[in-house]
Amino acid sequence: MSKVDITDNILYVGVNDRDIDLFEGQYVVPEGVSYNSYLIMDEKIALMDTVDARKSEEWLANIKVVLGTRQPDYLVVSHMEPDHAGSIAAAVEEFPDMKIVGNAKTFTFMGQFFGFEVDAKKVVVAEGDELTLGKHCLKFIMAPMVHWPEVMMSYETYEKILFSADGFGKFGALDAEEDWACEARRYYFNIVGKYGAQVQAVLKKLAGVDVSAICPLHGPVLKENLSYYIGLYNTWSSYTPEDEGVLVAYASIYGNTAGAAKKIAEMLKEKGVSKVAITDLARDDMAEAIEDAFRYDRMILACSTYDGGIFPCMEDFLMHLKAKNYQKRTVALIENGTWAPMAGKKMREILEGMKEIKILENTVTIRSSVKEDTIAALAALADEMANA
Ligand code: FEO
Repeated sequence: MSKVDITDNILYVGVNDRDIDLFEGQYVVPEGVSYNSYLIMDEKIALMDTVDARKSEEWLANIKVVLGTRQPDYLVVSHMEPDHAGSIAAAVEEFPDMKIVGNAKTFTFMGQFFGFEVDAKKVVVAEGDELTLGKHCLKFIMAPMVHWPEVMMSYETYEKILFSADGFGKFGALDAEEDWACEARRYYFNIVGKYGAQVQAVLKKLAGVDVSAICPLHGPVLKENLSYYIGLYNTWSSYTPEDEGVLVAYASIYGNTAGAAKKIAEMLKEKGVSKVAITDLARDDMAEAIEDAFRYDRMILACSTYDGGIFPCMEDFLMHLKAKNYQKRTVALIENGTWAPMAGKKMREILEGMKEIKILENTVTIRSSVKEDTIAALAALADEMANA
């Protein structure tokens, strides 16, 4: 068990998962992921969430190290997604007298996922309800669509601990030595990004709450400088660019479009744009490309024409951006086509369906390979983007 100090009476019993190939069936996690679970020890004992079913045994062993022969009185379920709810049945079997605390939707989903008799065990709570454990008391804060409908946070009033569900979580096992913001941002935009308005609503509810530590369901417990993390969540969920900079994302068949993308990235740096990221959409991590698209205020898309339209990995990227509510950015287009360049027109049509996207009027068209006239057009576009 990773040793995580929270307080004398609130203890970590979660697990690291470094064997997982894809988180949520789609995201690479080179440093794994943690499924966090906590015990609140008082006259009554509350177990906060479970873990993925693949790690049930390790999790139950962690609980027994803390509890010995005692049993939890309550299991609080903040979220029914299987990375946290996957061990509920194992916990019910292990602790038959334990009550399960959730909201009405939690129990609907629980019945769908599991076969045990939910009704006999359930304690249904709603916004603002409290569960007293002794000195410790949990107050429930509904957080619908952050990022499932049943999500709720719990605020422990005695030690001022916020159990924030997936909010403030990140990819990476607890022993991963890496920057918090990088993997928290990739996690946020890919998993929660669509629901900025709902995250804003929860941030408003939390604005007056005195919080001494945030215990998320993934990644480290946050105990210091909480305004930094809350500030980033406010930036991200309001779709405000975090940094001035440009993402150059390209989809290239034989390398000519890639060459143009690399050329304009160099030009941007020469023109003083300090943050320029470049991604090969066919080969690099799509989730990181999404993250960078949201991080910066500007983006250049360079794409080959294919089957009279957009090369597939670029189309996939644009569909992801649309699904995640990409907005409030400036975008420029580069297309390539040997006989009928169409990628620019098709990319523009998709971007026009997004909110508050300024698309630069001039699309640079490459005919097969970069020539002198293309260099001049790229330089003009770089100039426009550097000053956009
Ligand atoms: Fe970490 Fe939405 O589950």
